[in-house]
Amino acid sequence: MTAPVVVARGLRKSYGDLTVLDGVDLDVAPGGVLALLGPNGAGKTTTVRILATLLKPDAGTAHVAGKDVVTQAADVRASISLTGQFAAVDELLTGVENMRLMARLAHLGSREVRTRSDELLELFDLTDAGRRVVKTYSGGMRRRLDLAVGLLGRPQVVFLDEPTTGLDPRSRNALWDVIRDVVAEGTTVLLTTQYLEEADQLADRIAVIDHGRMIADGTATQLKRAVGSAHVQLVLRDGETERIATDGTVPDVRRILADVERRGVAVDTWEVRSPTLDDVFLTLTGRPAEPTEELVLATQES
Ligand SMILES: Nc1ncnc2c1ncn2[C@@H]1O[C@H](COP(=O)(O)OP(=O)(O)O)[C@@H](O)[C@H]1O
Ligand SMILES: [Mg+2]
Repeated sequence: MTAPVVVARGLRKSYGDLTVLDGVDLDVAPGGVLALLGPNGAGKTTTVRILATLLKPDAGTAHVAGKDVVTQAADVRASISLTGQFAAVDELLTGVENMRLMARLAHLGSREVRTRSDELLELFDLTDAGRRVVKTYSGGMRRRLDLAVGLLGRPQVVFLDEPTTGLDPRSRNALWDVIRDVVAEGTTVLLTTQYLEEADQLADRIAVIDHGRMIADGTATQLKRAVGSAHVQLVLRDGETERIATDGTVPDVRRILADVERRGVAVDTWEVRSPTLDDVFLTLTGRPAEPTEELVLATQES
């Protein structure tokens, strides 16, 4: 196997009595997409911030593109980009102006700036919007621009911290397409998410994190096999629930419902459910994912 581009070993981080990372190990192969999947408060952002050199671990080591994130932080920074939930673009500038500004900061030559930013705006479906000030953009457009800006310097590794949280389904799909394009360019991607479906759509490997510890690691297929497939959930008139596995196709769901009708089961409500993060946690830990209360600390994102 080729050497991983992102390697973390035994990362630990505490704030006072609160242990946030309790020995995190990670490997991301070059050109691969790893999803770090976990509920709110699991330690995803802390891990990404350490890998992106924004935060020092209390213990453990991490290398990105062969460089140590603590002792060679500047080298690491030169080969990565980080896009978070809160887009870091300037509201008062147009999309194109944001791109040009960041390109100059990334020390790209003026010809390269123009070609690369045009190419990225096109790729991200922002060519027309690029002439408007960012203030007028939707949430999804901002995220796409933020990601495009991050790609100007052709980073080897892209960190995406909950790239689609808070987006409507259409914007989420548009962003997924863009992320697939980034991957197709050969960029290594580490993304964090709370959605099993997102990890399944984008990642070739999924690492599940809970309370600062990795509790599972495998391909999307392996994880889904462990968790089980989609199912039809019936709530019966007596309040009992019944689950019947399905591949989610129309004929299969029709067959299941016809069978339920034939058995004369008194159904109150029914739905087709895909496995969720909760199902993953139930399978892996025997309990649902328990999001810690979201203490929004002003210092947390600074
Ligand atoms: N600067 C900080 N000071 C104190 N606690 C923090 C700080 N940053 C994060 N935490 C806590 O660490 C835990 C993990 O946070 P985080 O890595 O942001 O999780 P996630 O991104 O998975 O939601 C949470 O309980 C959070 O409240
Ligand atoms: Mg987070």
